[in-house]
Amino acid sequence: MQNFEYCNPVRIVFGKGQIARLAELIPQNAKILMTSGGSSIHHNGVYEQVMEALRGRHLLEFRGIEPNPRYETIMKALKLVQAEKIDFLLSVGGGSVLDGTKFLAAAARFEGEDPWDILAKNAEVKTALPIGCVMTLPATGSEMNGFSVVSRESTEEKLAFWSQQVFPVFSILDPEVTKTLPNRQVSNGIVDTFVHVCEQYVTYPVDTPIQDRQAEGVLLTLVEEGPKVFADPDNYDVRANLFWAATVGLNGWLGQGCVQDWATHAIGHEITAFTGTDHAQTLALVLPALWKHQRREKEDKLVQYAKRVWNIEGENRDAVIDAAIEKTVEFFKSVGIDASRRAYGVTDEVCRKIADVFLARGTVLGERGNITGNEVYEILQLAAA
Ligand code: NZQ
Ligand code: ZN
Repeated sequence: MQNFEYCNPVRIVFGKGQIARLAELIPQNAKILMTSGGSSIHHNGVYEQVMEALRGRHLLEFRGIEPNPRYETIMKALKLVQAEKIDFLLSVGGGSVLDGTKFLAAAARFEGEDPWDILAKNAEVKTALPIGCVMTLPATGSEMNGFSVVSRESTEEKLAFWSQQVFPVFSILDPEVTKTLPNRQVSNGIVDTFVHVCEQYVTYPVDTPIQDRQAEGVLLTLVEEGPKVFADPDNYDVRANLFWAATVGLNGWLGQGCVQDWATHAIGHEITAFTGTDHAQTLALVLPALWKHQRREKEDKLVQYAKRVWNIEGENRDAVIDAAIEKTVEFFKSVGIDASRRAYGVTDEVCRKIADVFLARGTVLGERGNITGNEVYEILQLAAA
């Protein structure tokens, strides 16, 4: 096992009716800015629950953080934070609202010239405004981690940062409120979670049996529970299990001491930047192709994944790996995600542009640092047409 240091300070408040706990979770004298996305929270009762819980409190609102949150939008929110001397941010919505809010929290206390440097130049986030979260979409795990992904419209960039300073202070997860999610978002959440686990698990072995069994537990849970949510959308327990899977999938725990990859995400973010394709759809497209390309580098873990998640065994390791990749693609399809380039407008021209971005930045991806822009192009060529 590799050395690690792990500190996850997020207080998770999980279950039905827990939004009412907001009043006790946010400091009494806080000047709160509630951030939100489009209209979903106004159609599923979440907005009313938040207002009821925070009645009489100093509360302002900033609406309109879009999916794949934009830097330009967050800069508008920053003006409000500064003008109103806000000292607590409350994110109410999905991963995009929370990621935008994390960037806002860091930007509000940033001492440098341009907050974009946090994303583009890895500028240090020394401090940030405290964040509370009501998460309404199980997918990103953002509710229990320090990551944020923000897009800049003017330059077609989508960049990520991580800081210990932007972990939420608390996150309320009420599975009831996920019942209004459109199927597309439910599918996205299952696939995003699946790929988060794979990025931490399908690399090369460094003797981490506890982490491996935990990762396999989350993958098997997704395989079992995923299809149930479409057959029985009102089933609270299925919703609860998927929510907790998403949180555990990227709260840092599974990957401690392991070798991690994250190339699928890096390539996927560029696909979104150029085509606007949903985050999880890009992952479903890239992951099988990346596994085909990196089959030798990932061979031992792919064979372990095949055996323990899909019960596939055999003498011929290549055949085992092919069957596991096939099963993975079938699973993505069974929960509603097509993994072909055609479906998302990822033309040869887009593949070339993405490869060129990585070449220009000099980026090297993958757990073995062997994926440059040239390999990214080859991987995208291997994705289903
Ligand atoms: O904007 P509203 O009206 O709220 O609607 C949203 C949005 O249209 C809707 N929605 C959310 N909760 C709902 C609901 N609709 C009905 N009922 C509910 N309960 O769902 C749509 C998508 O929301 P979004 O927040 O964009 O989805 P998600 O949570 O999947 O977040 C995706 C973003 O997170 C980033 C992605 O790159 C992408 O930008 N990621 C963040 C990570 C992190 N912070 O750790 C890791 C991930 O790998 C990922 O990169
Ligand atoms: Zn993801």
